[in-house]
Amino acid sequence: MNILVAGGAGFIGSHTCVALIEAGHSVVVADNLCNSSVKALEGVEQITGMKPTFYQIDVTDESAVEAMFSDNRFDGVIHFAGHKAVGESVFEPLKYYQNNVLSTVVLAKACLSHGVNRFVFSSSATVYGANRSPLTEDMPLLPTENPYGETKVMSERILIDTAKAAPTLSVALLRYFNPVGAHESGLIGESSRIEPTNLMPRVILAALGKIQKLMIFGEDYPTSDGTAIRDYIHVMDLAEGHVAAINHPTPGVSITNLGTGKGTSVLELIHAFEKANGVAVPYELTERRPGDLAECYADTQKAKKEFGFSAKRSIMEMCKDAWNFEQKSK
Ligand code: WQD
Repeated sequence: MNILVAGGAGFIGSHTCVALIEAGHSVVVADNLCNSSVKALEGVEQITGMKPTFYQIDVTDESAVEAMFSDNRFDGVIHFAGHKAVGESVFEPLKYYQNNVLSTVVLAKACLSHGVNRFVFSSSATVYGANRSPLTEDMPLLPTENPYGETKVMSERILIDTAKAAPTLSVALLRYFNPVGAHESGLIGESSRIEPTNLMPRVILAALGKIQKLMIFGEDYPTSDGTAIRDYIHVMDLAEGHVAAINHPTPGVSITNLGTGKGTSVLELIHAFEKANGVAVPYELTERRPGDLAECYADTQKAKKEFGFSAKRSIMEMCKDAWNFEQKSK
C-alpha cells in the first residue's frame, strides 16, 4: 500500500517509515520540519534503500494538503504531525489546539474527499488522565490537566464522529505509552529542536555531562523505590504496532494501547541505562513534577487480540539503542 505519513520526519514517524517500507509498503512523508530534520529521511533511505517522497508542508494548510492528495493515490494515512511537549502546551495552548486539532480535521477531510479509507492516529496514554493502571481502552477518559492531552482527546472525538458519518472510513486510535530508544543502526533516533523534557533524553544529557545531573521528580511515590513508574516501549516496537494497525483495518473505530504492559521506575531506568552502556548518570532526588502520576502502564491484551501485536524489545535494548544513536549522531 501507499501510505501518507504526516510528521514522518519526526521521532516515531521516521521509525514507522522504516517499518512500513520493510513490510513492503511505499511511503510519502509530509512534514513542516518544525521539530525535525530531513536528516531523518536520509536515515530512512540509508536503512531501507528507499527514499520516501517528501512534501515540506504544514498539514494544517488545507490547499497544500489538497494538492498533495491530488498528486498521489494514498491507501492510508498515519497522522503523527503534532506538538508534544506537555509543559509547553500549558503556556501556549492556542499553538497546540491550532496545530494538533486542525491538522486532524484537514487530513480527515482530505481522506473523505479522496476516498482514502484507513486513518491511523497517534494518540497518547495521556488521554486516560488519572485513571488507575493497568489502563484499558474501555475506561472513561478523565481530564488530562494539560492542553496537549486535550488535543489528543479532541482529535480522537473528531475521528470517532467522522467515522460514524462515513462508514467506509476505518480509524485506528493508537494510545502510546512512553516511546524511547532508536533504530538499532543508530541512523535515526530521537532528536528534538526544543530542549527535551522527557526522561530518556535527559538521562542521555546527564550521561554526556551536558547537564550537571538528572533531577528525579519525586522520591515519595507509593512504588517499590519511591520514584514514578511508566511503561517504556521501544520506538521500533511502536513503529511495528502501526504497521500491524494499518494492515488490519477494522470497520469503524478501533482504540488500542501500544505499550509493553510492564512498569519501570525512574531509578530502574537510570540503573538499566548505566548497566547497558557502562556510563554513570548523575542524578538528584527532588520534588514531584506537578501533574505527574505515580504509575502509568498499559493493559496490552487488545493489541494482541486485534492486531496480533505485542512489544518484544527489552528496557536494556531501549537504553543501548538510545545511547548508540547519540554516539552515532555526534
Ligand atoms: C517520565 C517519568 C517524570 C524527566 C509524557 C507525555 C506523554 C508522552 C510521553 C507524548 C515521570 C520523570 C522526567 C526528568 C524525571 N508524550 N522525569 N526527570 O510525563 O510519563 O509522559 O511524555 O506522546 O503523552 O505526557 O514522560 O518522560 O516526561 O516522564 O524524573 O528530567 O520520568 O516525573 O515520572 P511522561 P516523561
